[in-house]
Amino acid sequence: MIKNSRILIVDDVVDNIRVAMNILKEDNYDFSFAHNGAEALRLIFEEPEQFDLILLDIMMPGMTGFDVCQKLKSTPGIQDIPIIFLTAKVDVDSVTNGFQLGGVDYITKPFHPSELLVRVKTHLDLYHAKQLLKKNNIDLQTKAKFEVRRLLSELEDSQKEMIFILAELMEATSDETGKHIKRVAESSALLAKYHPCLNEDDMDTLYHASPMHDIGKMTIPLGILHKAGRYTEDEFLIMQKHTSNAYGLLSHSDRKLIKAAAIIAHEHHEKWNGKGYPQGLKGADIHIYGRVVALTDVFDALTHKRHYKDAWEIDDAVKYIIEHRETQFDPELVDIFKEHLNEFIAIAMSK
Ligand SMILES: [Fe+2]
Ligand SMILES: [Fe+2]
Repeated sequence: MIKNSRILIVDDVVDNIRVAMNILKEDNYDFSFAHNGAEALRLIFEEPEQFDLILLDIMMPGMTGFDVCQKLKSTPGIQDIPIIFLTAKVDVDSVTNGFQLGGVDYITKPFHPSELLVRVKTHLDLYHAKQLLKKNNIDLQTKAKFEVRRLLSELEDSQKEMIFILAELMEATSDETGKHIKRVAESSALLAKYHPCLNEDDMDTLYHASPMHDIGKMTIPLGILHKAGRYTEDEFLIMQKHTSNAYGLLSHSDRKLIKAAAIIAHEHHEKWNGKGYPQGLKGADIHIYGRVVALTDVFDALTHKRHYKDAWEIDDAVKYIIEHRETQFDPELVDIFKEHLNEFIAIAMSK
């Protein structure tokens, strides 16, 4: 049901209120009254949204209509209610002042009934049209914002999915499977989850960037990559380059995920004791993302078959990780691994 417009008539002379109301009731409005400025302000501030228009006398004891108008026009949420001055003051200065203070109209007494009716109706129509426009505009902005957000997250999801697909493709050219990177992603996020200095954002970053840890293997000749026997010293040096080659490729990006992937690819073969490669970084000089993937990658590689080795028993692989606490792996990460061992084993066993 559409509600009637409510008009507040402010006048210190009761007869004036009565006259205005008798004329306007023809148009089915609801009315409220105030006999002075203070009373008018109290009514309006109590429930501003109830009023659609104010008919305001100027000469009143206490606050004048101008004072009331000034107060209303400086109050957010109230300032939009149209004010029509209805007054016996006909001098040019008063009329000018009325408009300058923000009145939408100025009707002088005596007035013809139809003049009041038409002017009130015009300003009410205008006010309602403006309100509707404002509401539609807000609705539209909200919808647009929602849509932009949806598209952005869709784009981000596609990028993340694409990273997995590319990494899987890369793994397919080496001896590893796409399942290896999925498990490394999951157990890296799990280590981050239990690490006191890492947050949900790190979990997400590790999950989506760790699949690229061996992307540099694409730059290694297949003859070396697929060699069944032990590497010669030279071959091993070439193989080690998969870390710095990947870093060279990825490190120019400004994207958070690619930057993280560059670090992981570069540092996942570093060892806590400084005897890893390619930089021989030591302890906390190795980025935490590198330290995390160093552990999860080795654990997964040990528990699964590779062309150069069979899968180890889970217990033996766990023993290896624990035995290499503080030599190969970050001791804090090994402790987390031990504490939540069942969860890491579950990921290792997942197909
Ligand atoms: Fe690697
Ligand atoms: Fe790996």
